[in-house]
Amino acid sequence: MSKKIISITFIISICITSKLVFANANIEFISTVPDETNHGVLFVTDFSNLEGQAKEIDQASNGLLGKTLKYHSENTPNQHYLELYAIAEFDKLVVIEHSDSMLSKVELNNLGGKIAKILNNQLNGNQFIVYSQSINADEAAIEAHLALGYKLRSYQFNKYKSNASNDTGSIIFVGDDIEVSRQVYQNDLAHLAEGVYLTRNLSSEPGKTIYPQSFVDEVKKQFKGVKNIDIDVLTLRDMKKRNMGALMGVGKGSIHDPRLLVIEYSGADKKQQPIALVGKGITFDTGGISLKQNSGMWAMKSDMAGAAAVAGSIYAAAKRKEQINIVGLMALAENMPGPEAIRPGDVLETMKGTTIEILSTDAEGRLVLADAVYYAQQEFNPKMLLNIATLTGSAARALSDEYAVVITRDWELSVEMMSIGKQSGEHVWPLPLHPNHFKQISSDIADIKNSGAGNPGASIGAAVIGTFIDDNLPWVHLDIAGVDWLSESTDTTPIGSSGWGVRFMTELIRREAKQDSN
Ligand code: BES
Ligand code: ZN
Ligand code: ZN
Repeated sequence: MSKKIISITFIISICITSKLVFANANIEFISTVPDETNHGVLFVTDFSNLEGQAKEIDQASNGLLGKTLKYHSENTPNQHYLELYAIAEFDKLVVIEHSDSMLSKVELNNLGGKIAKILNNQLNGNQFIVYSQSINADEAAIEAHLALGYKLRSYQFNKYKSNASNDTGSIIFVGDDIEVSRQVYQNDLAHLAEGVYLTRNLSSEPGKTIYPQSFVDEVKKQFKGVKNIDIDVLTLRDMKKRNMGALMGVGKGSIHDPRLLVIEYSGADKKQQPIALVGKGITFDTGGISLKQNSGMWAMKSDMAGAAAVAGSIYAAAKRKEQINIVGLMALAENMPGPEAIRPGDVLETMKGTTIEILSTDAEGRLVLADAVYYAQQEFNPKMLLNIATLTGSAARALSDEYAVVITRDWELSVEMMSIGKQSGEHVWPLPLHPNHFKQISSDIADIKNSGAGNPGASIGAAVIGTFIDDNLPWVHLDIAGVDWLSESTDTTPIGSSGWGVRFMTELIRREAKQDSN
């Protein structure tokens, strides 16, 4: 690449955490294709009919590109990409076929993610030019949205691998209006990606290293230097003072005390009520005395994915300088069967002053959230409250990887959440909350019990939390037990922690901020 190109190239490399997970590619934006290029990604709408940039490359290859793609589409019609070597001026050229319709932002993210999926973090130090002229979208910053998808899909959690590669190539987006894309990426989408990375890092980390206080330490480290952020940490002593018996109860079997981490972001006038985001942060869920079975228990290291998503979303909002006030509360505890652990049959007193009979110590998420959502309302008077939790196996069985469960008291709000899901690429689908679900959790000896007789588990879990939320407060309950961890990759998410919720909550925050300014 020429010196001139380098000088107009803005390099954005994200190094997320000192606990290091390095993304291995730089993402760059330039206005003209460099003279000498030997690695490329070419988008085309039809393998059998090359136009524009594709046609030029075809000509430079003396028709070989066109012939190869045509042959490929006739023989492998379901594979819409091809990796080619030694064609025209390229040592390597990846060709990706896409729809010729107007693409949404999420579709652009998915296309960008495909680049990462195909290259699989094997850039080998090379600079890949992305030829994206064939893409049409209702969006000026096409390349920025492709870049976000690339970034999200190229995530790796490799800090525990002794042979992790630190390959550093570049993905270089080229376009006529590239300045717009560069700004949108640099000032906005790169921060969103960082938020997702932070969430995935925290959720991928084993329970041995992430426990309530280390979660707090890690998040504090990430927020160092971020403006308009105020962090408060409630320890056991503070919880005792406030009578948070449910949150304290869950932590009793562990050698690690629980914490309530509170992050306030003030991006708007102090008088504006904040939105409250409350996350379940069980740093490991053994089930407690109601011990889980062995198979798959390891995955409970990510039972704090809700809290991690709250941290990631606020981080992104603060870095994006969104004009809104947000308070994030992360209810952190480790659910272990130690000698002091709570038992089935025990009764806990909550901050609200009501009591909960424990039927299963494995239904612990709703307990930590009960005190956290109550505290959020008492302390911050939010205009809406969203809680996000890996709450029930029932939600995962109902909706699997495709949708998170959303439960509200009001259908319109659920519809709004579905729209946010669609626009963010993190989809939600409603389950009901019926008066009978509240009846099911009435207890013979206490005010409520922490689980019902069985079905419908996701709604019963929501009802327990709902008991601690003012009927008049707009309230969104997200159960992400099915979507927080993927065993199959998608276009924007590798296998493992998905970081689910950061894109969703970021879209919600954008909409709320827009409403505030009107
Ligand atoms: N953390 C689990 C829910 C979960 C299950 C998350 C699978 C991710 C994948 C939660 O604490 C739990 O154990 N819930 C119980 C509740 C039951 C005892 C009422 C469940 O869903 O089985
Ligand atoms: Zn549990
Ligand atoms: Zn749990």
